[in-house]
Amino acid sequence: MPHQLTVWRAAQLLGVARGVLQQQVRDGALMLNDGLLSSDALLRLYPDAHLEESGLLERVTQIRDEAFGKRVRERMLPTQEVMAQRLFAQTQELADVRKHLQRYHGLVIRLQKQAREGVLDHPGDSAWQDMEQQVTQGLAQALATESVNLLEVMDDMLKIMTAQVTVRPSGHQFQVEGHSNLLQSGLHSGLRLNYGCGNGSCGMCKVRVISGEVTQTQHSDYQLSENEKAQGYTLMCCNTAASSELTLELLEASGPQDIPEQQIVTHVRAISTLAPNTRMLHLQTPRTHRLRFLAGQSVSLGWSAPGQADVHSTYPVASCPCDDRNLLFYVTRAADDALAQHLFSGEIGVGDSISLVGPTGEFVLSDGHRPLVFAACDGGFAPIRSLIEHALSLDAAPSLSLFWLATQSDGHFASNHCRAWSEALDQFEFELVTHPDTAIGAQQIAQAMRADLFDIDCDFYLAGPPEFVVALRDELRSAGVAQAQIFAEIV
Ligand code: FES
Repeated sequence: MPHQLTVWRAAQLLGVARGVLQQQVRDGALMLNDGLLSSDALLRLYPDAHLEESGLLERVTQIRDEAFGKRVRERMLPTQEVMAQRLFAQTQELADVRKHLQRYHGLVIRLQKQAREGVLDHPGDSAWQDMEQQVTQGLAQALATESVNLLEVMDDMLKIMTAQVTVRPSGHQFQVEGHSNLLQSGLHSGLRLNYGCGNGSCGMCKVRVISGEVTQTQHSDYQLSENEKAQGYTLMCCNTAASSELTLELLEASGPQDIPEQQIVTHVRAISTLAPNTRMLHLQTPRTHRLRFLAGQSVSLGWSAPGQADVHSTYPVASCPCDDRNLLFYVTRAADDALAQHLFSGEIGVGDSISLVGPTGEFVLSDGHRPLVFAACDGGFAPIRSLIEHALSLDAAPSLSLFWLATQSDGHFASNHCRAWSEALDQFEFELVTHPDTAIGAQQIAQAMRADLFDIDCDFYLAGPPEFVVALRDELRSAGVAQAQIFAEIV
């Protein structure tokens, strides 16, 4: 029987995006059997699969190198205790398989003996001769040494290094790597998990373990009742997966309506100059009060100088919800933005307190498996960056394309970031467009999209000033793109 792998593990081993394999399942090139893919079918489709290119072999080799840094080992490998538990489970599974094999072997040997006796007792009876021949040949084939299927070997090893978690009822999956707890791992995989403090105090990340084992990674002040413990409830922020497969029952946010408004006092961690009129503001929340938000959403920031009235401005969060403590904002110099003026004048500095209220906004990724096309104009890149990082975490889209219009020559203030995505990811491509007239720039982007994207069934995310969003949306609509596949945000 061929070895079976989850889509997630197969993608990791073959070094392709999960969205690509899922698309091949939808196209009929691969078949899912109980949510699993056959290693034989994968190797037929990827006959030239070089596991070295997935980076896994290299990573394993690096781990063996004692000189390799402790931090990398922590990120890559679970604790010794967790690894021992997973190894124990694998060994038990192996022992069960061996036991079964020995029984089957004994059965076949007995059949072979009976067939031989039948041939002797009934000379000339072809039925006995056929049976004896079949059993002997079958046994010889089973005992013959076959070349090792590397995909199977690596999958078994991966089960010790990383655990796979399946979420019910959504069916979402995520992996637990290194020393990460279940909450961190789920957020890094782009799941919209329910949580609060992130440190075991509030109980909001409570989930029920349906199958598999968890182990505690940190102390929690929140006490589960005896009844909850008996039913298998646990806290995601204080536990990790002890078994290589884990099934959890939990509720995920379905959209912005499920994310509560939060008020947090943050601190300025860094301010960087990206262009003469653009600063990156890096805010950090307290360890015990992180911002739960969805990619693409905005927050209101407030600052006050001693003896002066508060100033407030609303900005899209440019970073990914998977890092809920370190929040990035692109702030553009604007006459009507009082907070930006204080930032550019140098009155707001590192260490200052900034109050945050939010999140707000509906410009979030919709569920789906279509290729994703993002278009930004100037500062509209902020929510687009957050959406792209979220989409990359989810790894569900077959491809991602970004078009970024700058109306000023230094307007592509994060082009290095785009280049880094493009170099690291096969499924990501981008095009930078510069034009002082927003509407004409939008038409140029539409033309670039028309060249290869209008004929594909994509979801389009647009962010920028009204004239950009309206012009591009009109182009998309006139090209036949359904309204339901266009998502827009005025920035
Ligand atoms: S998030 Fe508060 S206890 Fe886990």
